[in-house]
Amino acid sequence: MDKLSIIRPDDWHLHLRDTPYLEAVLPHTARQFARAIIMPNLQPPVRNYDDASAYRQRILSALPDHSDFQPLMTLYLTDNTSAEEIERASQSDFIFGAKLYPAGATTNSEAGVTGLKPVYPALEAMQKHGLVLQIHGEATEHEVDIFDREKCFIDTSLKSIHEDFPNLRIVFEHITTADAVDYVASENDFIAATITAHHLLINRNAMFTGGIRPHHYCLPVAKRELHRQALLKAATSDSVKFFAGTDSAPHARDAKESACGCAGIYSAYSAIELYAEAFELTDDFSHFEAFMSVNGPHFYQLPINDDNIQLEKTSWKIPESLDYPNDELIPFKAGEILKWKLINND
Ligand code: DOR
Ligand code: ZN
Repeated sequence: MDKLSIIRPDDWHLHLRDTPYLEAVLPHTARQFARAIIMPNLQPPVRNYDDASAYRQRILSALPDHSDFQPLMTLYLTDNTSAEEIERASQSDFIFGAKLYPAGATTNSEAGVTGLKPVYPALEAMQKHGLVLQIHGEATEHEVDIFDREKCFIDTSLKSIHEDFPNLRIVFEHITTADAVDYVASENDFIAATITAHHLLINRNAMFTGGIRPHHYCLPVAKRELHRQALLKAATSDSVKFFAGTDSAPHARDAKESACGCAGIYSAYSAIELYAEAFELTDDFSHFEAFMSVNGPHFYQLPINDDNIQLEKTSWKIPESLDYPNDELIPFKAGEILKWKLINND
């Protein structure tokens, strides 16, 4: 098999930042995907309807001419997000969910939630009005080993949220462990998970190959090989609960290559091809279209896209670096050869 044709995919978890960085990264995503769930962790965060509406307008203005890419907006939950704000957001036709960041868990999460109880009125309203809850699922206690934080969050927080709000649709974002795969697979249809291309392709060794590799550092951090294999098995399985969300998170080269480097991997440049690379490892593309283009819309109760994309099996090299204001951006797998290339897509 040397050609693939699938329904145009969507990216169910994306960081676009804001002007002028937005203009540098958005064309990469818009070239490949029809829609993307836009993360709200700007500074200051996207907290309410007005913030989301203004941010959406900035994204639409930054799109290349003739692009019909659609940003699907989310709100950033804080301890003070009110039920009224959630209701107002749910009445819009462009806000699809709200993101729960445990305070301190990751980049720009300082304004996130400090415990579950403060956010319960907002979750109650989300359940009532049909907004999807996206969760960064990591415990934040410093004494919890960084490699155990996802599992710890499942046990201490995720299970309670799911039990207390049985009709709330939850996306457990960018899962990294076999524990998360097992939990999502064993629960009902109200809980699903996104999986990034990088967590399908690297394990934690990639952060330390021959020295410290800051461009492989993201949160949640990549885990042991057995976890990567569990993720790959889930993504390529016939389960409808797993779908593509890149978590592509641009940080300038200087901010990554630093004594305290930022968390985030920039995969948007070649996102679909990276997912194809991961499926290629299993030699089984039978569920590639479902994972990339069908399971996500199904969970978000949105139509699937009405055009197709094509990929061809041909070697090509990811650039060493990309343009970025006042600096450069190092894409995931910079300078490496990929086996699949998106074609006929301009
Ligand atoms: O690696 C990450 N980068 N993980 C996140 O949760 C946030 C993201 C970012 O915004 O840079
Ligand atoms: Zn993210």
